[in-house]
Amino acid sequence: MSKSPREFDIIVYGATGYTGRLVAEYLKDKAGLKWAMAGRSLAKLEEVRDLIGAAKDTPLVVANADDPASLEAMAKRTKVVLTTVGPYQLYGEPLVKACVANGTDYTDLCGEPVWMRQMIDKYHDLAKASGARITFSSGFDSIPFDLGVLMLQKHATEKFGAPAPRVKGRVRAMKGTFSGGTAASLKETLKTLAKHPTLAPYMLSPFGLTPGFEGPTQPTGMIPEYDDSLDSWAAPFIMAAINTKNVHRTNFLLGHPWGTDLRYDEMVLTSPGEIGKQAAEGLAAALKAPFGGGGGPKPGEGPTKEERDSGFYDVLFVGEYPDGRRLLYSVKGDRDPGYGSTSKRIAETAIALTEVDGPGGVTTPGAALGEALVKRLQAHAGLSFAVEG
Ligand SMILES: NC(=O)c1ccc[n+]([C@@H]2O[C@H](COP(=O)([O-])OP(=O)(O)OC[C@H]3O[C@@H](n4cnc5c(N)ncnc54)[C@H](OP(=O)(O)O)[C@@H]3O)[C@@H](O)[C@H]2O)c1
Repeated sequence: MSKSPREFDIIVYGATGYTGRLVAEYLKDKAGLKWAMAGRSLAKLEEVRDLIGAAKDTPLVVANADDPASLEAMAKRTKVVLTTVGPYQLYGEPLVKACVANGTDYTDLCGEPVWMRQMIDKYHDLAKASGARITFSSGFDSIPFDLGVLMLQKHATEKFGAPAPRVKGRVRAMKGTFSGGTAASLKETLKTLAKHPTLAPYMLSPFGLTPGFEGPTQPTGMIPEYDDSLDSWAAPFIMAAINTKNVHRTNFLLGHPWGTDLRYDEMVLTSPGEIGKQAAEGLAAALKAPFGGGGGPKPGEGPTKEERDSGFYDVLFVGEYPDGRRLLYSVKGDRDPGYGSTSKRIAETAIALTEVDGPGGVTTPGAALGEALVKRLQAHAGLSFAVEG
């Protein structure tokens, strides 16, 4: 289905929320981009437009998740809908449906694997037919990890003639906190699993997003361990449950260029010795109550500008071969990973979708855009990708 002509390149839906506002603030300075801000309240959109200093004539689109006709009308007007209206399992499906029906590309910040699997089962074939690329997880989950493994495997294959069968994603450093929207999304996932325990395999299996394909048993990354090869203790990582699934989905969608035997996990590196061990055990315990036992921030709330600006992340990828050869690769980013960096990442994903053609389907940033997105993120969004040795 032809995607042009469309009135807009990108519509930012959820522009009145914590993350959507940051995205709009980022896009307002992109010369030549035809974009609009969308949300359920015109008055709130006007207020946010003025607050972020966007031009007075920035087009505003009223659309409500409860009103499918408004979503359908929005999807028809643009090449890409960038949505930060979450939790996606509460508000997301009618928009996915409208984009699929109209061959409109879509990108979101979803880290809700059960809902994603349901959308794959329901819409992947329809999206293939209409040409819509439904691109989930364009935030901290999972772009640095999805693209980090993609780039590591590209360099490993060039250097050693074959992809690494074992890859470790290891967070070396990170500074950032949660928003209300993310807290709400995590709580919704837990509620869904309590209500529908039969959906648990989608959450628990590393292959929950690759219907019909199950690879080898994966390292769980759930128990603190000492990693000899990196001389450090390693602790469980909160985003691993979603990122590992997206890495396997990218491999699956690309036709398994990294093999059907890939083993991949993600952990956080602490340090060597007793101190590193205690830190790893502390992180493992903290995972059991990610919001410190409290309710977490409310929707619309999130880190301050100072917190966003002083944040950063640094992730190491280690590709290992059975004979001991290995390749080290890193992905680093400025700003806090969840919001300052995420708003730039999803905005660049949306722009890349307007520039790079590809087949429709329910996809990942890695499978849909790959190196084209790496280039945009390096050039515009404060990320760096590099071979370390
Ligand atoms: N993966 C990542 O790295 C990452 C990072 C950040 C956020 N996220 C995800 O992004 C999502 C948004 O987070 P956030 O902190 O920005 O949330 P938020 O501040 O609560 O914003 C939610 C947005 O959704 C809108 N909304 C709610 N109900 C709606 C409806 N019925 N129709 C239309 N719009 C509706 C809100 O509009 P009003 O302003 O009118 O209430 C608001 O614009 C969450 O799912 C979160 O998990 C992921």
